[in-house]
Amino acid sequence: MKLLVCGGAGFIGSNFVRLRVRDHGDEVVVLDKLTYAGRRENLADVEHVFVHGAIEDRDKVAEAIEGCEAVVNFAAETHVDRSIAEPDAFVTTHAVGTYVLLEAAREAGVRYLQVSTDEVYGSIAEGSFTEGSPLAPSSPYSATKTGADLLVASYFHTYGLETLICRGSNNYGPYQYPEKLIPLMILNAMHADPLPVYGDGQQVRNWLYVEDFGRGIGHVLAHGRPGEVYNVGGPDECPNLEVVERIIALTGADRELLTYVTDRPGHDRRYSLASEKVRALGWEAQVHFAEGLEQTVAWYRDNPEWWGPIRSGDYRAYYERQYGSQLG
Ligand code: NAD
Ligand code: TYD
Repeated sequence: MKLLVCGGAGFIGSNFVRLRVRDHGDEVVVLDKLTYAGRRENLADVEHVFVHGAIEDRDKVAEAIEGCEAVVNFAAETHVDRSIAEPDAFVTTHAVGTYVLLEAAREAGVRYLQVSTDEVYGSIAEGSFTEGSPLAPSSPYSATKTGADLLVASYFHTYGLETLICRGSNNYGPYQYPEKLIPLMILNAMHADPLPVYGDGQQVRNWLYVEDFGRGIGHVLAHGRPGEVYNVGGPDECPNLEVVERIIALTGADRELLTYVTDRPGHDRRYSLASEKVRALGWEAQVHFAEGLEQTVAWYRDNPEWWGPIRSGDYRAYYERQYGSQLG
């Protein structure tokens, strides 16, 4: 298959491209704007065609989609904390970008898969969200992702475009930009830097190994019913504090590094996805959190040439803004 993968230079996108090229022999065109989170290095070992551009740029999209049989859209601004500080790019990329891609897919007559998130459902105290649960996003990130999902659904209902939506839970694994909880804690622990826990650290996330998400998206692309939404949740839930404690144990860091900082505004307490629908297509998560976390810590330990330039670049300015004096 020849696939257009938008946002393929980011964390999940690059892992997905690697999986498709190596395991499925797909031809892949990557369209990516290369924001702070997108890196050509993430795809250094994978054969692909690269188009540098934004999904909201019609000309770039037209160039990239040529000859492709399906579009998989990962392109997004993805960090909730950044969406609280500067929501602008979230609105442009998720609303305008998704619209431009949908139009291009409609014109080309190809299947369109939108990569979405469990955060569109908001927070759940008990039980798990199904695909029919009401949408109740809390942050500018999740609200704009929800808008994109609704636009995608409208292209199925209005124009008959073959659309699919995959809502994943929190991903972790190699190549994740170190502003997200797990890579941030791993690198800080390795450097004996403070480990900033928001609020009481009892917020729960449903952890999904990045390759399991990639396999789930592949399953939905091949076997999903057009117009449908599929939740792809990880096999394990874990409170943030326990995640950090596990990382402390795996890295041998000092527990004294654990530092409670001011909570995120509007912080969702718990995410949990029911994934029976995608399981009925034959998908099953293969990596449990304990094993995946160990592999992820080992990957960061073994790949300083990947994270070294990130930690010494613009990232420092972000880090100062986000945590500033709270970490001393
Ligand atoms: P990421 O931030 O690592 O990568 C995003 C990629 O999109 C980057 O390569 C970036 O350069 C590119 N991009 C951003 N804006 C663009 C634009 N306007 N045009 C073209 N490219 C653009 O993010 P990720 O964690 O890999 O997430 C990928 C997708 O998966 C997102 O849609 C996200 O909402 C979704 N998702 C993420 C998680 C998670 O835990 N990380 C969970 C569920 C769903
Ligand atoms: P994050 O990785 O940003 O993903 P999301 O907000 O999309 O779930 O955060 C995961 C959880 O970790 C979330 O509850 C916020 C918390 N968190 C911290 O406690 N400290 C941190 O420094 C970061 C980045 C996140």
